[in-house]
Amino acid sequence: MRKVYLDSAATTKMRPEVVTAMTEVMNDVYGNPSSTHSYGRDAKSLIETARKNIAVHLKVTAAEIIFTSGGTEADNLAIHSCVRDLGVERIITTRIEHHAVIYIVEHCQEKYGTEVVYLDLQDCGTPDYGHLEKVLSDTSKKTLVSLMHINNEIGNRLDIHRVGNLCKQYNALFHSDCVQSIGHYEMDFAELPVDFTAVSAHKFHGPKGVGFAYIKKGTGLKPLILGGSQERGYRAGTESVHNIVGMDKALQMSYENLDKERDYVKGLKDYFKTQLTTHIPGVKFNGNCGDHENSTYTLLNVCLPCPADKAAMLLFTMDLKGIACSKGSACQSGSQKGSHVLTNVLPDEDLNKPSLRFSFSVFNTKEELDYVVEVLKEYIDSIK
Ligand SMILES: Cc1ncc(COP(=O)(O)O)c(C=O)c1O
Repeated sequence: MRKVYLDSAATTKMRPEVVTAMTEVMNDVYGNPSSTHSYGRDAKSLIETARKNIAVHLKVTAAEIIFTSGGTEADNLAIHSCVRDLGVERIITTRIEHHAVIYIVEHCQEKYGTEVVYLDLQDCGTPDYGHLEKVLSDTSKKTLVSLMHINNEIGNRLDIHRVGNLCKQYNALFHSDCVQSIGHYEMDFAELPVDFTAVSAHKFHGPKGVGFAYIKKGTGLKPLILGGSQERGYRAGTESVHNIVGMDKALQMSYENLDKERDYVKGLKDYFKTQLTTHIPGVKFNGNCGDHENSTYTLLNVCLPCPADKAAMLLFTMDLKGIACSKGSACQSGSQKGSHVLTNVLPDEDLNKPSLRFSFSVFNTKEELDYVVEVLKEYIDSIK
């Protein structure tokens, strides 16, 4: 059966070069990085080289990179420790963050009585920057702002400079989940006023189960996981050496090929958008994802013109035809619950229509997109 993978916002295919780099480590460098003998030193040296390479891409110091099991852990580390250890009494966020943020924010609210302010959203789902400034201007409580750089469902791109500058102006800490942007955009944290970020390797053609937190020097964050003194005490547990090396390789390759690959993927998104608009009258694009200036080039969240009662079989039909895409976000696949992002962003009339998120990578082709448009068109014609 023909298969088309259009779910790279959920996870990406690993680059063959990444698999090779990891396999070499698994075969040859099996020492524990905490051991002082040569096997251990070899493993440690790989980790520290990866840390330095990653730090160079982000324009930070190596000491500010803490390896984790992925984006979720890095988000939890920053937010939880800000409240527990740094005296944060108020968190400003939105209802359309990833659950890795929403649930730890709710946990802090329940456990520590942290005040949570959910920002108003503009119609397209972008946070209302005026509301943010208004809330920030009350400086009576130590505050953490947590706003994601790129929304994983609708692709909206935050004005991260603007938010960072506001946080600086009002003396608030700023955490920005950059899981959907690192590896796809150049990020200069020497210049960006961001205190904490979360990154995940499997979103940029690296392995699953590894990521990192960027923790700005001097913030005083404390670890969540206690045990050995790995990661200078920030994150106990024997490091996943092959995963860290794979992540380093994947990030290096993403940035080496960034311009060329971005143009290519952007071309795919434009092409898909044009084909959908031409062949499926009434199609809409959710959030800002139809607008290049304010969204990522890696995804398109498509609202299809079909009634809710006829929509049930859509994702199933796509799967039967070998097409992998996502209803809302992948984190909800298998769940009957609708997307919390779309629920908060779409007008009622569109909420009842089926929406699908298609996300692209350098491994996709226009021909695959033609096939998807054909399948969608057939489905919509069949239920008329
Ligand atoms: C925006 C965002 N944050 C966090 C995560 C969680 O990352 P991980 O899968 O590495 O835990 C994801 C993954 O879907 C994501 O898209």
